[in-house]
Amino acid sequence: MKFVRCNGLHGEVTIPGDKSISHRSVMFGSIAKGTTEIHNYLQGADCLSTISCFQKMGIEIENRGDIVLVHGKGLRGLSRPAEVLDCGNSGTTTRLISGILSAQDFDVTLTGDASIQKRPMKRIMEPLSLMGASIESINGNGCAPLKISGRKPHGISYTSKVASAQVKSAILLAGLYADGETRVTEPYLSRNHSEIMLKYFGADVRTEAAGSAAAEPADNSTPADGSGRTPLPAGSATAVIQPAEELHGNLVEVPGDISSAAFFLCAGLMVPNSEILIRNVGTNPTRAGILNVIRDMGGDITLLNEHAGSGEPTADILVRSSSLHGTVIGGAVIPTLIDELPVIAAIACFADGTTVIRDAAELKVKESDRIAVMTENLTAMGADVTATDDGMIIRGGQPLHGASVNSHLDHRIAMTFAVTGLCADGETDILGAECVNISYPQFYEDLKRLIR
Ligand code: S3P
Repeated sequence: MKFVRCNGLHGEVTIPGDKSISHRSVMFGSIAKGTTEIHNYLQGADCLSTISCFQKMGIEIENRGDIVLVHGKGLRGLSRPAEVLDCGNSGTTTRLISGILSAQDFDVTLTGDASIQKRPMKRIMEPLSLMGASIESINGNGCAPLKISGRKPHGISYTSKVASAQVKSAILLAGLYADGETRVTEPYLSRNHSEIMLKYFGADVRTEAAGSAAAEPADNSTPADGSGRTPLPAGSATAVIQPAEELHGNLVEVPGDISSAAFFLCAGLMVPNSEILIRNVGTNPTRAGILNVIRDMGGDITLLNEHAGSGEPTADILVRSSSLHGTVIGGAVIPTLIDELPVIAAIACFADGTTVIRDAAELKVKESDRIAVMTENLTAMGADVTATDDGMIIRGGQPLHGASVNSHLDHRIAMTFAVTGLCADGETDILGAECVNISYPQFYEDLKRLIR
């Protein structure tokens, strides 16, 4: 697919449903009692993989397009699938479903596409094994395919090295079935959609932030809850869940995905003479770090019509072309914008000065190695980018020219270069452009409608 420079982007775009929230609505709806009615479910390939996995475990799911009905059978209502569960390209499906499967009384094999079979699964295998499940990486490389034999889980107190919502959620889901309280501490708070939705479905789940009374007493001596636990390091957060009798199905309004909106936000900033109204964007603070970074870089964005549906804040965002300057992005903000870093790296090429992205080594284990792929493709277009161990250094201000860029079948890379191509001389040709179907099947149509 080819893109050339354009003279401005104008109009409105309504962002499709959030991928993370869509996955959770079907998963939690399947293990809840009663019907869960989901509005604005994302019809991307990843979320369709989640529907298909639960259908194979005996859950009736009616996908009517905009509305999905999940006829949940309760915490103990899943049945053994007759075949291997295929999670496609979806890390969220693979890791979260593993948490649920570790607590079932049947054996299952999980697999996915070539990318999934390279992504690290030890991060969930370790805690779920500590809870009692048997999880084997069939090829012995710590990746899928995984064979999971469920057991009644033990409640554990686990400290994860990475701030990962997928790891946290897998443990919390096993914790629903456990024999006692389960605690997961992460170095920084990652997206909290599981905690919000599990609570909304009736689970007893809470978050303790470092410095909160429950987590850390003022004098740093005995914890306020008398648990004898060590106080949390600054910035870290602990999710705590109690075993549940049952969850109850509910109505879920899925907000638009800020990770998809990011491409329009950044396109609106970098393409001169642009003004775009981006409708229905989820702005949960654990996801909305890109908005702070854009403001730090001098970008012109305004939030309008702010409201909350199903416990998730949502807004429309007006973006206008802006002169940007470089910034430093690292630490606690990283989990709140991890999926947006490729397109943030692209806008940094148009900013005055240097942008440093650090503490983001997780980028290497996403759908592609996003540090290597971004550096390779931006450099091919004439940008001044250096890859580091945990991020990138981008010296802005070099004019970009079109090039042939490989998406490496990573949807966020393809979308990043579609919008970057709108600001480059000559033609940008994206190889493997069709992979946007993972999270945003109608992306190119929506983008092209805005082009002047
Ligand atoms: C997701 C969590 C993040 C994110 C991914 C979706 C989720 O992954 O990158 O696209 O839905 O929980 P990690 O948990 O590996 O950081």
